[in-house]
Amino acid sequence: MCVLAHSSFFDLGERADSLNLVSKLLLNENPASMLPTALFVLEPVLITPWHDLAAWFQNDESTAFGTMHGVRFWEYLGRDSWQNDLFNKSLAGDTRLISSVLIDKAGESIFEGIDTLVDVGGGTGAMACAIVNRFPRINCTVLDLPHVVTGLSGGMNPWFVPGDMFEEIPPADGILHKSILHDWEDEESVKKLKRCKEAMAKSSHGGKTVSIIDTVAAVRMRREQRRQPHSSVLTR
Ligand SMILES: C[S@@+](CC[C@H](N)C(=O)[O-])C[C@H]1O[C@@H](n2cnc3c(N)ncnc32)[C@H](O)[C@@H]1O
Repeated sequence: MCVLAHSSFFDLGERADSLNLVSKLLLNENPASMLPTALFVLEPVLITPWHDLAAWFQNDESTAFGTMHGVRFWEYLGRDSWQNDLFNKSLAGDTRLISSVLIDKAGESIFEGIDTLVDVGGGTGAMACAIVNRFPRINCTVLDLPHVVTGLSGGMNPWFVPGDMFEEIPPADGILHKSILHDWEDEESVKKLKRCKEAMAKSSHGGKTVSIIDTVAAVRMRREQRRQPHSSVLTR
């Protein structure tokens, strides 16, 4: 309770437990609830690698997670359906919050002229559903790993397609990546962006936009803002 209060999760007043904007985001009944996200990042499977960083520094494995668990994160989730479910719910919570900002503030300009869209690594489709609700003319496909999308049925729109984004991305006018690129090394990201280029070249309109919504390192963000004070890049 003390830590939470000092981290501005509660307003300190006469009653130390009064909720503020931050703690309200952890309420289940809040439509923008980030509770599943908070629960997932506190899962022991994610916390334990931080306790053994020394082992990671002494090998060639690219992540501390891989050092601790012997497999990369996505492979681990493919084997553990409980963690997979928790992770997908956590991302869906994050997406509910971000999609409302994205669609309200920038939706018209981002999706103008787009008839077909692929949400690459789109998880269980929270972003795709929000886009289709607001822009029903857009035919949206969610591409993700089989253990994420198999069995999901969004009816006609969005479609869920199991696959590997490093192998092939379905043809589309627009391609969206939310919270994807930060997971990969530069070489892997370039490989994936080449798949995007191929997919857009095959679309009937010849492809229009690749949208990237992701975490930007603070130092890069500040530099970017100095150069482009009115940058259309959405950062968080
Ligand atoms: C950080 S999550 C982002 C999910 C979603 N875009 C969102 O923001 O809610 C990354 C997603 O990429 C998917 N993914 C990882 N490797 C993939 C691959 N090779 N091909 C397709 N999807 C992949 C994961 O299953 C996961 O759903």
